[in-house]
Amino acid sequence: MPSPSKPSLLSLSLLFFLPSTILASSSSNLGAVNPDDLIDPSTGYLNPQAYLSTHPKPPSTSSHAPWTTPPLCHTSASNSSLKFCTYTSAPSFLNGLSLITTPALAGLAIPHLDEHPVLQFFPSDAEAEDFLGTSRPYAVEDIPGKGKGVVATRRIAQYETFMVDQANVVMDNRIEKALTASQSLELLRRGVDGLRDPGRVRGLSGEHAGSKQSKSKMEGEKGEETVDDKDEHVMLTNSFGTEFEGENFRAVFPLVSRVNHACDPNSFVMFSATSLSIALKSYRPILPGEEITISYVYLGTPTPHRASQLKKWGFECDCSLCSRPKKEIEESDERRRRIQEGEMEFQRLWEQERYQAAIAKGKELVKLIGEEGLTPM
Ligand SMILES: *[C@@H]1O[C@H](CO)[C@@H](O)[C@H](O)[C@H]1NC(C)=O
Repeated sequence: MPSPSKPSLLSLSLLFFLPSTILASSSSNLGAVNPDDLIDPSTGYLNPQAYLSTHPKPPSTSSHAPWTTPPLCHTSASNSSLKFCTYTSAPSFLNGLSLITTPALAGLAIPHLDEHPVLQFFPSDAEAEDFLGTSRPYAVEDIPGKGKGVVATRRIAQYETFMVDQANVVMDNRIEKALTASQSLELLRRGVDGLRDPGRVRGLSGEHAGSKQSKSKMEGEKGEETVDDKDEHVMLTNSFGTEFEGENFRAVFPLVSRVNHACDPNSFVMFSATSLSIALKSYRPILPGEEITISYVYLGTPTPHRASQLKKWGFECDCSLCSRPKKEIEESDERRRRIQEGEMEFQRLWEQERYQAAIAKGKELVKLIGEEGLTPM
């Protein structure tokens, strides 16, 4: 589990453990895609039709292959066998991917660099192609009082997978302790600079809903240091916690980052750890003009903890759940605590292959989640 301040997308998707596991195992391959065809020049977002025009990637002549820039490394002053480097694979899908981690973990990611993010989330190629052939059902707009947000441009059906995004920068959390603040910033800058369009990541700085701070604090070895670096600000306020090979990471998903938080969201996130991609799915039908929302904190999180987690993203909790009467909040917190415990139990049973017991637990959870006013899948 990531540290408490960095909620894990993995836990966000626990409820959907079963479907996402099945979907993630779909292992077809549309072939490599020219990234220039994938980005809609007007918005910088995924251009779905372009995914269909696939052709092989030219063989890399770089001596750092599969990376497109020479890795930049720093070794920990307190442990000479602990080294972190920035590895960038810019001709991969969309905007490219910079992994800031140890050489060993970067090596484990190599086989997945060319995985097609869209295919991770659809059971068959035909369904993936349907998705790619459909125009985007959302647009980034100004939301009164919230900065930017994402709004539905047509009706989105219940449980429709309507958005796919891939991480642009993925940073190992161990760096915070192992390297100095300036070394860590240097690795991060290199990672953002290596992307096809660094502005897609830097542009997130300060554009987030409720993001009032122009400066943020990053805890370095020398205690707290005030920074106004854009890359660092994005990493702190627009990243999602996730896990890869048992280590915790912060990942920046430029498109999903535009989606605002709600404690009763209309959409949820599915995560594919291998392709470092995310899909958004709707809990219920979403009408044209309606804002698309997800929960940035694990849905089982009780109120005080939720508020402190949201603050990390520059949000004040102003949703109905946080302004309900104290007694209702306590009841809600108790239900969310039980949901959280139940999900852990569900996963344990599933991993022990005790499927009947897991299914019974799942049914109990669906009931609790319904009582809490969240929509179970
Ligand atoms: C130093 O780093 C290596 C590699 O991660 C690790 O195996 C080892 O336990 C670390 N040593 C200390 C003293 O922390």
